[in-house]
Amino acid sequence: MATILVTGCDSGLGVEFARQYAVEGHRVIATCLDPASASETAAIRGQVEVIGLDVTDHAAIEKLAARLKAEPIDILLNNAGIARPHPPFGATDYPLWRRILETNLIGPMKMAECFVEHVARSELKVMAFISSRMGSIASNNSGGSYAYRSSKAGLNMIVKSLAVDLAPRAICVLALHPGWAATEPGGRVPVSESVAGMRGVIHRAGRHHTGSFVTYNDQPLPW
Ligand SMILES: NC(=O)c1ccc[n+]([C@@H]2O[C@H](COP(=O)([O-])OP(=O)(O)OC[C@H]3O[C@@H](n4cnc5c(N)ncnc54)[C@H](OP(=O)(O)O)[C@@H]3O)[C@@H](O)[C@H]2O)c1
Repeated sequence: MATILVTGCDSGLGVEFARQYAVEGHRVIATCLDPASASETAAIRGQVEVIGLDVTDHAAIEKLAARLKAEPIDILLNNAGIARPHPPFGATDYPLWRRILETNLIGPMKMAECFVEHVARSELKVMAFISSRMGSIASNNSGGSYAYRSSKAGLNMIVKSLAVDLAPRAICVLALHPGWAATEPGGRVPVSESVAGMRGVIHRAGRHHTGSFVTYNDQPLPW
């Protein structure tokens, strides 16, 4: 039985990650931005430990890491993120951009720094970051989405550096793309399929996979 900590379990992929791991008997620590109002989370209460955590609140991350000090964490799943809206060029919402960077980029880094010892002490030793194909510089042919794209491109760079820095400790660091999942309007990949696919990628990942950017259906993505 592994222990998995998932951020952003108020809705969407986070809830489904928590649900699927719990169904298999793993211990799940599901953090939510607002456990009181997270209606989707209600369905998994009782199967998982639900804890409030805003990933932009560094003091709260430090506090949680200290509270869980004795616990090895096999998979740290940095899932929390803000995707929308995508203001076009000329209408950039700078406060929103800063909030997106705090949530999608800086928060996951703080999580990695605060939980590295918990992961290093575990059996599986995985840090997975939910990135996006939209963070790929090489495959950006449609432009726009400056805040979201830059947050995920930055996250990808964090994954690469962490993979190098944490290789001596045998920690596998992955950037995962969920597909265009049905949590998004128009999304085509069913949420259960997206999450099952990403769990499979995590499960199969060995030391030599560290620093990879991979889709839910195991396709490597260009950076
Ligand atoms: N769905 C897709 O097609 C797709 C594609 C590529 C990448 N992704 C990535 O997949 C991840 C999950 O997205 P999703 O599709 O499941 O969307 P979602 O339902 O909006 O899930 C994101 C979760 O993060 C939470 N969150 C937002 N700000 C937070 C903060 N400061 N601290 C903690 N939690 C926070 C949200 O809470 P609230 O709901 O309360 O705001 C929400 O529960 C995100 O990183 C997203 O960028 C999704």
